[in-house]
Amino acid sequence: MGRVEGKVALITGAARGQGRNHAVRLAMEGADIIALDVCADIDSVPYPLATLEDLETTARLVEKLDRRIVAVQADVREPSEMRAAIARGIDELGGLHVVVAQAAVSSLGAELGTRAWVDTVDVNLVGVVNTVHAAFPYLAAGASVIATGSLVALRPRRAYDKAGPGSAGYKYAKLALAHYVHELATALAPERIRVNAVHPTNVDSPMLHNDATYRQFRRDLENPTRADAEEVFATVHAMPDPYVDPDDISHAVVYLASDESRFVTGMQLRVDAGGYLVVNEFRP
Ligand SMILES: NC(=O)c1ccc[n+]([C@@H]2O[C@H](COP(=O)([O-])OP(=O)(O)OC[C@H]3O[C@@H](n4cnc5c(N)ncnc54)[C@H](O)[C@@H]3O)[C@@H](O)[C@H]2O)c1
Repeated sequence: MGRVEGKVALITGAARGQGRNHAVRLAMEGADIIALDVCADIDSVPYPLATLEDLETTARLVEKLDRRIVAVQADVREPSEMRAAIARGIDELGGLHVVVAQAAVSSLGAELGTRAWVDTVDVNLVGVVNTVHAAFPYLAAGASVIATGSLVALRPRRAYDKAGPGSAGYKYAKLALAHYVHELATALAPERIRVNAVHPTNVDSPMLHNDATYRQFRRDLENPTRADAEEVFATVHAMPDPYVDPDDISHAVVYLASDESRFVTGMQLRVDAGGYLVVNEFRP
């Protein structure tokens, strides 16, 4: 308890999934929360995104822990919305110490066309940069920026080349995000502001559990079910498990948000059940 006591954490994509879990876990450890989410669908994304009710649920869960939360509907693709939402949160909560930039979409399927590439890169890469840039004026020594990448960024491209432009955009965005974290961490280290990436493998969330994702994992079946997909999810891992829990990612986020990691920066932290090991040689 109290590992991030007194800190204010901004989380994008906080209405559900991992983002909500990070909000709750950081609040359990003493942080107040600025929770942002688009709470609307995007045409090229083949599953529903979060709703306003989802964002309200996140707010209630944090308040139950006796922490404060400012929950705002905002689109990471729109710098002016990000600036306004962050300013509102800081106005109410008094500062900003942790940024968790993790809102993203995954548009799998060759039929989705190039719009899926554009929208995915806009949310998953430009959205992260917009978030960090909007937060910059408020960050001081001791602050921690955490960006959520993906195991996909660290795997060879051939594994993804049949899943269409949205999939290619996802891999590009997450790879560029990893590079961005490396460069930003280098630039901000003299100011003692840390920047790290967390790269999850399959996580038990709506981004994984939808028909479009099941179809990519089971191209041999016309209408694969969750059970069909679960039979093969584990093949991307060294460990015999199909996916990890949001808590597994939140534990990494809490560590990187806390002062326990005060000399950890530029880290590409994989939480991937050994998924990287399956396809990569050791590289010093
Ligand atoms: N679920 C997985 O298998 C998996 C695997 C690797 C990496 N990730 C990454 O983990 C992070 C969290 O994803 P998740 O699993 O919780 O998925 P999710 O779909 O449950 O959550 C993503 C959230 O982002 C929000 N969002 C989408 N576009 C937005 C925008 N333009 N502006 C603001 N909010 C927006 C959605 O409404 C949703 O609440 C993402 O960065 C994702 O790429 C997920």
